[in-house]
Amino acid sequence: MEKILSRNINVPDSQSLDVYIKRGGYDALKKALSLPSEKVISIVAESGLRGRGGAGFPAGMKWKLLPADRTAARYLICNADEGEPGTFKDRQIIELDPHLLIEGMTIAAYAIGACRGFIYIRGEYDWIARVLVRALREAEDKGFSGVDILNSGHQFCIDVFRGAGSYICGEETALIESLEGKAGRPRLKPPFPAAFGLYGQPTVVQNVATLASIPFIINMGPDVFKSFGKPRSYGTMLFGICGHVNKSGVYEYPMGTSLKKLIYEVAGGIKDNKKLKAVIPGGLSAPILKADEIDIEMDFDSLIAAGSILGTGGIIVLDEDVSIPFVAQKAARFFAHESCGQCTPCREGTSMLKLLIDRIAAAEGSLADIEQVLRLCRYIKGSTLCAMGDAAAFSVGTMVKKFREEFEALVK
Ligand SMILES: Cc1cc2nc3c(=O)[nH]c(=O)nc-3n(C[C@H](O)[C@H](O)[C@H](O)COP(=O)(O)O)c2cc1C
Repeated sequence: MEKILSRNINVPDSQSLDVYIKRGGYDALKKALSLPSEKVISIVAESGLRGRGGAGFPAGMKWKLLPADRTAARYLICNADEGEPGTFKDRQIIELDPHLLIEGMTIAAYAIGACRGFIYIRGEYDWIARVLVRALREAEDKGFSGVDILNSGHQFCIDVFRGAGSYICGEETALIESLEGKAGRPRLKPPFPAAFGLYGQPTVVQNVATLASIPFIINMGPDVFKSFGKPRSYGTMLFGICGHVNKSGVYEYPMGTSLKKLIYEVAGGIKDNKKLKAVIPGGLSAPILKADEIDIEMDFDSLIAAGSILGTGGIIVLDEDVSIPFVAQKAARFFAHESCGQCTPCREGTSMLKLLIDRIAAAEGSLADIEQVLRLCRYIKGSTLCAMGDAAAFSVGTMVKKFREEFEALVK
């Protein structure tokens, strides 16, 4: 299968600009710069490219939401926070093919008229950030980034900003606050970043894999991109498969690839020939699927129909020996720890969830505690300032609903 996001990663010295150029790198940027910026937006919109950071919002549509007046400063931010547990796709792009991201970002910046961009990378990815900074310096030296890119008169300067290890800073408005030097707390929306983003200016925030898909779309055209995947979920996805599989790793497959195939063929099946118990299909925030629910296609709509989400495409595979209350405890602790504390339903809700699940997991709970967890999840859903509260409630609540007998076995 032709690759969009991982075509260079097995090539020796794949991070170097020379290798990238030899393999056709920056041709898409040259092509984009020869087109009117509105045309670049319409090509990306036509491709149907949807965000790979979790929410799946169409990229072209997001760009069209920016105000028509281009005189004021506007910004492009690459979200490389990658804080969702079970997710490790963006790091592969940045570490092994950084110029793909820089090229995608520079094309996007040209399309939306941004002269300044930021890559917000999680602090834990320190060595990857160094690869990125080196690649950026190389791109600037050769005129692919910075002032007067390829003598086009277009300017786009990128800064790399290291986060300080907070999950909520992956949420786009918390990320913007953090970039502005404030505590990373989500903003009330609307206004959305397209109208009021970084320093109050129109801003586009896109995930690493979304931006890295753009050079292919410009080079090959939207129809070739749409030949991968399926309607409403075009292109490919970098599926990060981890947990109890024989060959964990990052694999690029078209959207709509069967989850069963990804686990049993691509990732080599369950370790030690054990039975599968459950799968979390899109990072920890995605509601869990039982072993008999994995006969589904990995695309936005199919997962929603199955009661879960595609999320980040980070697939966590759990074998028959895993205690789901133990997983729920880890999840509840994570969300309680990462809640920014700004809104009451998330701050109080996640810490109460943690308290109840801790009690149940320690075999000190009651049936009433299980009911209380489910009630609490219902209250949290839809009532928090950002989607993190929903994530906590869906993740933990679904584990309790689908594996209730395991929780009941622990209570008096
Ligand atoms: C709690 C929380 C954490 C998030 N973390 C990330 C992240 O680490 N990376 C990311 O790209 N998007 C993350 N998002 C989604 C972003 O808010 C935003 O939708 C995304 O960066 C937009 O880019 P995309 O449309 O290209 O996916 C997170 C959202 C929430 C609610």
